[in-house]
Amino acid sequence: MFNKEIIHKFNSTPTPFYYYDLEVLKQTLQLVKTESEKYNFIVHYALKANANNEILNVIKSFHIGADCVSGNEVKKAVECKFDSKDIVFAGVGKSDQEINYALDHSIFCFNCESLQEMEVINQLAFAKNKTANIALRINPNVNANTHKYITTGLEENKFGINVWELDAVAEALKTLPNLKLIGLHFHIGSQITDLSAFKSLCLKVNEIQHWFSSHHINIENINVGGGLGVDYHEPDTHRFADFKTYFQLFNDFLEILPGQKVHFELGRALVAQCGTLISRVLYVKKGMNTNFAILDAGMTELLRPALYQAYHKIENLSRLEIPNIKLHMQKYDVVGPICESADCFGKAVSLPETSRGDIIALRTAGAYGEVMSSAYNLRDKVKAIYSGD
Ligand code: LLP
Repeated sequence: MFNKEIIHKFNSTPTPFYYYDLEVLKQTLQLVKTESEKYNFIVHYALKANANNEILNVIKSFHIGADCVSGNEVKKAVECKFDSKDIVFAGVGKSDQEINYALDHSIFCFNCESLQEMEVINQLAFAKNKTANIALRINPNVNANTHKYITTGLEENKFGINVWELDAVAEALKTLPNLKLIGLHFHIGSQITDLSAFKSLCLKVNEIQHWFSSHHINIENINVGGGLGVDYHEPDTHRFADFKTYFQLFNDFLEILPGQKVHFELGRALVAQCGTLISRVLYVKKGMNTNFAILDAGMTELLRPALYQAYHKIENLSRLEIPNIKLHMQKYDVVGPICESADCFGKAVSLPETSRGDIIALRTAGAYGEVMSSAYNLRDKVKAIYSGD
């Protein structure tokens, strides 16, 4: 992934920073387009994964829509010139101000997560003399077999409307004239690598669709959310998620009614592999049982390991293999500078003997990396550079 020239550039750039390979991004997007268009599927990009302007501009150029979960994400999508007709807005806690902003921009659809939210959108749309397109986000109670913090489609989760509430929702809709029901929305979780979870989702969606057909409610759009996982362990071998199998599975198992459109909201699978967090070793310190490699990047730049015990491949770019020279490998706990013991990127990581000043790469950090960075410990905002800069 990294040639000598790039590593030289990293060496002369102040760390830490995110490096984005826009070629990898474009290749990923091309693949998504090719595989989804086989079935006329519509793809939206979940801005929450990475809302960096440069990344968004590339994604928009592939005519992909925007999936937003806050008023500011809707605003960002509008500013980056995503067509309002391609913007969907989900989230369990949309504020009046956020709803009003989205109404003013006539977005494609509000994914509604409760009856009370529907009433509020109806009221706000009425005040503007508008009709809001809505999809019901239904909690399908399907297990995504992923980390519990990123599981969203179980009844115990806060997301969506439960199946047993459908009668009440259908009744309520009759009394909410400023809402137009245009679809159903589902999202079962993130970093899903066991694709059978998506098959279970399809079967559940089919069942729920039967309920709507039997109540003579026409559903034009089915939005199956995102969640396709990526390979954090072998980012070079599996640079692209298995989009082919993923889209084919929905085509095989989802009962798509005549004229119905199927939408996806992918975040991670589009942007994870194009991003790397680059940092420098500040100190190497002997501990009781291990050595610590202390980096100038920490949980403030990449929260995933601390929050989800997530694995990111760690590489010492200053000590890449040189043919015929055997590297002396050692184990390090790779940690950041933040005053928290959770500020650890990996324990007993095997790296070539590492010294102060070495450049360390944390791979597969393009999704939920920069966007989840924080100013804790009054850290500077992490910077970004791009291939071709
Ligand atoms: N649609 C909805 C309604 C969502 O809640 C999400 C992600 C997506 C789409 C996009 O899912 P993706 O294709 O990226 O899996 N911060 C966590 C991930 C949180 C995902 C939240 N929802 C992480 O770093 O793993």
